[in-house]
Amino acid sequence: MTAVAALLQRSGRRILLATFAVAAIGSLLVPEPFAFGQTSADESSPIFGVKIPAGYRQWELIAPSREAGSFDELRSILGNAISMKAYRDSALPFPDGSILVKLAWKQVPSAEFAEAFVPGHTTTVQVMVKDSKKYPSTGGWGFGRFIDGKPVDETQHQTCFACHEANVKEHDFVFTRYAP
Ligand code: HEC
Repeated sequence: MTAVAALLQRSGRRILLATFAVAAIGSLLVPEPFAFGQTSADESSPIFGVKIPAGYRQWELIAPSREAGSFDELRSILGNAISMKAYRDSALPFPDGSILVKLAWKQVPSAEFAEAFVPGHTTTVQVMVKDSKKYPSTGGWGFGRFIDGKPVDETQHQTCFACHEANVKEHDFVFTRYAP
């Protein structure tokens, strides 16, 4: 290799490095568009530190549900890919990395067709994250309950596991069954 070629090669590498550096800094400075269903870093639940997972609104539907009484809500329970695989394989317990999200809305009669009930305003988003190392005392699940994207208080988060444990311990603390 001639001295000139070596010099060219070295400066070429430097230009390449500089280009990467500019691109990297650029990606730090340019704000990401605010993704639907995403919250900022500090909005994690008390006790568990669970956040609303990014992109959850594109996840698969496991099943809908309805709670009558004072809640009077329609709900949809969604699962990420890891949890959906476990559902399909009927594999319990859910593996680490499984995330379940429950969306809830007040049910209201359709404005166009009164006998049909449709989602009114959003009430809560609830999240369960499986991480058996992080949450050994709550069946391996971390819990988060959010209203308008903000986690509710610690007292409410103390109730989650107790009710799931009392009713669905045999189904890895998860109520929702897959609706084909
Ligand atoms: C008094 C009982 C009770 C308490 C307390 C409770 N849940 Fe649940 N949860 C349910 C039931 C019943 C379902 C089944 C789906 C539904 O609501 O229609 C459910 C479903 C869920 C689901 C969907 C996965 C599944 O198990 O079916 C998530 C996520 C969830 N709850 C999160 C929470 C969080 C977070 C808290 C605490 C803030 C909480 N739950 C407290 C009864 C309870």
